[in-house]
Amino acid sequence: MGKNVVLVGFMGTGKSRVGSILARKMRRRFIDLDDEIVRQSGISIKEIFDRYGEDRFRELESEAVRRVSSMEDLVISTGGGVLIREENVEMLKQNGVLVCLEASAGEILRRVGGRTHRPLLNVEDKIGAIEEKIEERRRFYAFADLSVDTEKGGPDMIAAEVFKAFSDYVKDGRD
Ligand code: S3P
Repeated sequence: MGKNVVLVGFMGTGKSRVGSILARKMRRRFIDLDDEIVRQSGISIKEIFDRYGEDRFRELESEAVRRVSSMEDLVISTGGGVLIREENVEMLKQNGVLVCLEASAGEILRRVGGRTHRPLLNVEDKIGAIEEKIEERRRFYAFADLSVDTEKGGPDMIAAEVFKAFSDYVKDGRD
């Protein structure tokens, strides 16, 4: 059995896209945590925020983390705020190696563009909100075991890089 690859990092860094490519490459099951939350609750992330607020979303997110953390051999992509709860960090690390995908605020804005389904970026000053949140979350992303710069290439290349970084990490016995 192998440790889960857990992709963390800010919104728009490509966690879901890279995760699905990586899972295919590693012949592993892929779980997107946001999709899990939507499946379990039966409503969209935006609706959860609108109707019940961010705190409720964070509770549902922790429940989803608990469910996936007991499994092995997965590739998991997470929502950008998952590490702000310490319990989530602990649970995800139990069976997993945390890989942080990184990108600059400008690149993130370019990638999420005008898409407004992300409640936390549904504001007038998007670049300001991104910069502020990245700063605020820097200390949480530092909990990751590895990090990969996603500005160097497309999702296939980044998936290959994550695979190599993860494999070396496990081989070196750092997990
Ligand atoms: C969030 C990121 C989103 C989603 C929710 C909250 C965050 O996921 O979980 O809107 O707090 O950064 P993505 O990182 O996949 O956009």
